[in-house]
Amino acid sequence: EDGYKYTRLKQNEVPVKRLPDALVIGVKKCGTRALLEFLRLHPDVRAAGSEVHFFDKFYHKGFEWYRDKMPPTLEGQITMEKTPSYWVTRSAPRRVYAMNPSVKLLAVVRDPVTRAISDYTQSASKRPSLPRFEDLALVNSSAGWGPVPSVVDASWPPVRLGVYARPLRRWLRRFARSKLLLISGERLVVDPAAEMARVQEFLGLKRVITEKHFYFNSTKGFPCLLKSESRSTPHCLGKTKGRSHPHIDPKTIERLRDFYRPFNERFYELAGINFGWP
Ligand code: A3P
Repeated sequence: EDGYKYTRLKQNEVPVKRLPDALVIGVKKCGTRALLEFLRLHPDVRAAGSEVHFFDKFYHKGFEWYRDKMPPTLEGQITMEKTPSYWVTRSAPRRVYAMNPSVKLLAVVRDPVTRAISDYTQSASKRPSLPRFEDLALVNSSAGWGPVPSVVDASWPPVRLGVYARPLRRWLRRFARSKLLLISGERLVVDPAAEMARVQEFLGLKRVITEKHFYFNSTKGFPCLLKSESRSTPHCLGKTKGRSHPHIDPKTIERLRDFYRPFNERFYELAGINFGWP
């Protein structure tokens, strides 16, 4: 009997660090922190708390370094990590595939116009002297005489990152469509429980995360958690998530919408999902 107990303890009861079974690969400012924090409500999910940046910055450190960054898990628990920059790292699909070709991938996507404003708001919070969004998003084509510059600066990172089609194609060259779950950042805010039901199904998890976990905090304007593993009282994500955005000139918004329209169409086609962005 002792022998049995020992084996059981050794194989099933001692948590060990393992390479991830699933990754949140992006997209920056689309709700990746919310997704990860919601997933952590599940007893069968363990995730690294901060972004590990293995497949973009620290790949040279090797898989043992990466494994050591993971939380210890029991057999049957899912190990996860989120680093949004993986989405646009050209070598990431190949490297992730080399780690585990059957890894499950999750990406949150959001209206690229709101995403760009969110990205800009984050930069402006760190650098108050940053020029206005309008002046960075649009290029001055004529020498200052035209009313509103009409050309979108596609190379400005907040704009460029909203072109989702190209990175998606890169990931799909390496992974089957069924291995990548695309999550609507908008629905994650409006109906987190429904979106998390899809996520749990994709990961092969029992549906544990439900309506009961969330409440809508009207001051914050976002869903918050009634309790979590680390806190037994209601709480929202940190102050850096759900910032208020500056007012943007509607003309600029319109220009951006026109710019993104064809890229969004291509993305919907590749994804097989119409996200319905305006
Ligand atoms: P804003 O702060 O611009 O509103 P990421 O975690 O990928 O950086 O994404 C940040 C965005 O997540 C926030 O951008 C916010 O819109 C969105 N988000 C989604 N659900 C949220 C929640 N429950 N609480 C706070 N922000 C949430």
